[in-house]
Amino acid sequence: MHYSDTNMAENFLPWILLLHFLLIMCSSYGIIGRELGMNHGTIITSNDDHKHDHHHHHDIDPSLMVFLTMKDLKVGQRMPIYFPKRDPSTSPKLWPKQEADSLPFSLEKLPQLLQLFGFASDSAQAKAMEDTLRECESKPIKGEVKFCATSLDSMLDFAQSILGKDSGFRVLSTSHKTKSSVSFQNYTMLEDIKEMEARKMVACHTMPYPYGVFYCHSQTTQNKVYSVPLEGDNGDKVEAIVVCHLDTSEWASSHPSFQVLDVKPGTSSVCHFFPADNLIFVPKVLQSHAGFSAM
Ligand SMILES: *[C@@H]1O[C@H](CO)[C@@H](O)[C@H](O)[C@H]1NC(C)=O
Repeated sequence: MHYSDTNMAENFLPWILLLHFLLIMCSSYGIIGRELGMNHGTIITSNDDHKHDHHHHHDIDPSLMVFLTMKDLKVGQRMPIYFPKRDPSTSPKLWPKQEADSLPFSLEKLPQLLQLFGFASDSAQAKAMEDTLRECESKPIKGEVKFCATSLDSMLDFAQSILGKDSGFRVLSTSHKTKSSVSFQNYTMLEDIKEMEARKMVACHTMPYPYGVFYCHSQTTQNKVYSVPLEGDNGDKVEAIVVCHLDTSEWASSHPSFQVLDVKPGTSSVCHFFPADNLIFVPKVLQSHAGFSAM
């Protein structure tokens, strides 16, 4: 056994967080019958992508080392990956809808917001808020629907509107099975890479802001979602969620993934590892082999 008893708490932490999330969801939303939990789908087979070479990493910011192509998704693959270790207990919380909706959320109102939160206009916080608002107001690319959620309710409403009113959904997220402060190292992909059922999906990324803001988006082009067990060089275990975008032809050529992977838009799939505080909503599978059913 790799795990000592003291690690049990960490192993259960993701479930506790999910349960917590579910409780908030049920209490604020009154939904019964939505299922939360990891699903275990089919085993993936390797897929052929176009030729690429991403062994020229030296000049690249480690925090961008989260990209891969479907070709890299195989047992035994070893690669440097960056997982931010943000402490969920200290990161900004989603506000109740009523509170969040009582504040403007627009670039135009930034001066007013800075005043309200007490940030100087030349502060790092002001810059972060500006970047977040700008990103949230940018036009979606062709085939993409996007939405910045400032509350749990609005995030769930958006997810539901994409996945379908009649569909329950599951929430997937990367979980760290061991505790360590190492955020950048080489990881090896272990046995049991699983493709998750994800005909449709909504990905929600945390954004820097004084309160919880998730940038949620969904692309109509084909995506795949995988659960990938990883072991770090230091023994860290991660059950990582990877999303692959099969069609990147509409992406801006300045997208950092193209630099990291050394490929051009539309010539290769682009996949990325999800940090633990990002969420993926997928439709609930009726006959799932989910090992966890919260309700
Ligand atoms: C990953 O391994 C390669 C080759 O073994 C090494 O050159 C590189 O420095 C390692 N990267 C990290 C982040 O440890």
